[in-house]
Amino acid sequence: MELARIGEIPGDGVNRPCLSPGDRTARRMLIAWANEIGAEISIDVAANLFVRRAGTDPDAAPVLTGSHMDSQPEGGRFDGIYGVIAGLEALAALHDAGIVTRRAIEVVAWTNEEGGRYAPGCMGSMSWSGYAPPTTWDDVRDADGIRYADALAEHLRLEADLPRRPLGGVPHAYLEAHIEQGPLLEAAGLDIGVVTGIQGSRWFSVTLSGASAHAGTAPVGMRRDAVQDMLRAVSALNELMHDPADILRFTVARIDVTPNTSNSVAGRVRFTIDCRHPDGAVLRAKGDAIRATVEAAVKTCDVLVEEHFDAAPVAFHPLVVETVAAAALADGASAMGLPSGAFHDAQFVVPLAPTGMVFVPSRDGISHNPAEYSSPEQLAAGTRVLVRSLVALAG
Ligand code: GLV
Ligand code: MN
Ligand code: MN
Repeated sequence: MELARIGEIPGDGVNRPCLSPGDRTARRMLIAWANEIGAEISIDVAANLFVRRAGTDPDAAPVLTGSHMDSQPEGGRFDGIYGVIAGLEALAALHDAGIVTRRAIEVVAWTNEEGGRYAPGCMGSMSWSGYAPPTTWDDVRDADGIRYADALAEHLRLEADLPRRPLGGVPHAYLEAHIEQGPLLEAAGLDIGVVTGIQGSRWFSVTLSGASAHAGTAPVGMRRDAVQDMLRAVSALNELMHDPADILRFTVARIDVTPNTSNSVAGRVRFTIDCRHPDGAVLRAKGDAIRATVEAAVKTCDVLVEEHFDAAPVAFHPLVVETVAAAALADGASAMGLPSGAFHDAQFVVPLAPTGMVFVPSRDGISHNPAEYSSPEQLAAGTRVLVRSLVALAG
């Protein structure tokens, strides 16, 4: 709740963009709490922040846990930050109980998971895992025109007092705690989600270039109106993406219109596409069909389709899935297996180490919304399962 005051917005929400002053304030709060238990702090070139509690065997690969501290622009108090705080609470509980593990346990706060200020999301974990070089997104700009590379450099300059660590590593295992962000656990009346995997996501932008013109004088038949072509394109995409089983998720949610005045025909529109499916082949086919579908639908505009994010569906590792299920059982928590509809940094750790996630219920399944809520009891139950799992994995 203290962290939720950093960037608070009406309706109990949070706006804490990545690499913003609020992000830094939140990280400093985390660091202060980590210092109370003598944990080691370090940061890498992608600004991923690590809090480490040493184990007895310095040669053993650490167990990694964590999530993200940035939020959506109209986000809630729990998405991401819960997994970081739960990880820190795990370290503090072990510290208080005098429990020493063989492997170190590290809590990570990944940079820019949300992709709200800088698209796409998961830049920190994609860099760390080697999925893409950290310079990949240097020229991405936020709404104020600030380049990602410049925001990152400024952030690293302001955090220059923190010890640097090399980018990457191979943990023994990775376990991320998160709110479910969907309705399944609440509907089932259960405490814990043992996450089995994450569906795939692809992000695109479509830019339609026509010609700006005077709204009072340009005959409609002579226009190259980008808004009208956007409507045609989105209609055609709705047909392409229609799924009678309602498994495919298709979202157009950001629309930038130029010049964006009432009395000028729109000369340019750029809109985003977020497309998700658990079956990698379906996601590939649908995403690959976007360009041709838009080109066939528009009447007058030039079309540019760009892909910005491609996260394949993943299945989590039995080692972690079974550890979480056993921890829930041992803690007396009711649990079920379920897949994640949201993407997470965990998706990019999968190729490197046994990975899994633990979910707690979300009230009414609401997320990416200020009304996002999980009760203190639900959050604590998830944290206890996290601690038990980490201890089992870390020996
Ligand atoms: C993560 O924020 C997602 O959009 O799934
Ligand atoms: Mn999240
Ligand atoms: Mn999110």
